[in-house]
Amino acid sequence: MNNSSIPVITIDGPSASGKGTVAQLVAQKLGFHYLDSGALYRIVALAAHQKDIPWVDESAVAECANNLEIRFNHDQVMLNNQDVSELIRSEKMGKGASQVAVHPNVRAALVTLQHSFRKAPGLVADGRDMGTVIFPDAALKIFLTASTETRAVRRYKQLLGKNLQADYYEILLDLQERDARDKNRASAPLIMAEHAVLLKTDNLDINEAVNFVLRHFETANKKQ
Ligand code: DC
Repeated sequence: MNNSSIPVITIDGPSASGKGTVAQLVAQKLGFHYLDSGALYRIVALAAHQKDIPWVDESAVAECANNLEIRFNHDQVMLNNQDVSELIRSEKMGKGASQVAVHPNVRAALVTLQHSFRKAPGLVADGRDMGTVIFPDAALKIFLTASTETRAVRRYKQLLGKNLQADYYEILLDLQERDARDKNRASAPLIMAEHAVLLKTDNLDINEAVNFVLRHFETANKKQ
């Protein structure tokens, strides 16, 4: 089986849309591999931060991204032999990820690593540019979104559920800021890929969203 015949499902969308949860469950149901591309940008933000490199310094951050020592072990992410699974999930690293992600040289440094996740029997990849740039030949492209308010409420509840402090309006403003940066950057902005299927999750639960993707994948397979 050559690499391009390994099926890929891409799930792109804005922050806190629930695409990660949906993508992981779809991958589980199909027995496919899973790529959380946002985690890679978060790791780069953390690696730069640990070296006191400012996120605006494109060449230094790109060098950092080119020399990452990352290992994925189920749900664990190891950076230079340190378990950073929790650290990269902070709001600070989310913001940092969005800032390092505007640099074309940083994005270029992560392309080969992202392609290496495409392994038989298939891959579900979530992010911002999975269907537009990284896997343009994907068998199915989903654009998963929800209103900013729905996403802010979800993020707010998620933080409270983890016994962390949360301020709804701060979260809302943060999401708006991150959406604007992700959508308006020149390099691989967040846009719906051509032929992508739109999935709005405001009024759907996780199972309904997962079934929506599985149904569309079945249909896409029949057409091939
Ligand atoms: O999906 P996430 O919230 O973990 O992503 C964090 C940031 O990383 C996001 O704000 C923009 C960037 N990102 C990107 O530019 N391209 C991707 N494919 C995935 C994430």
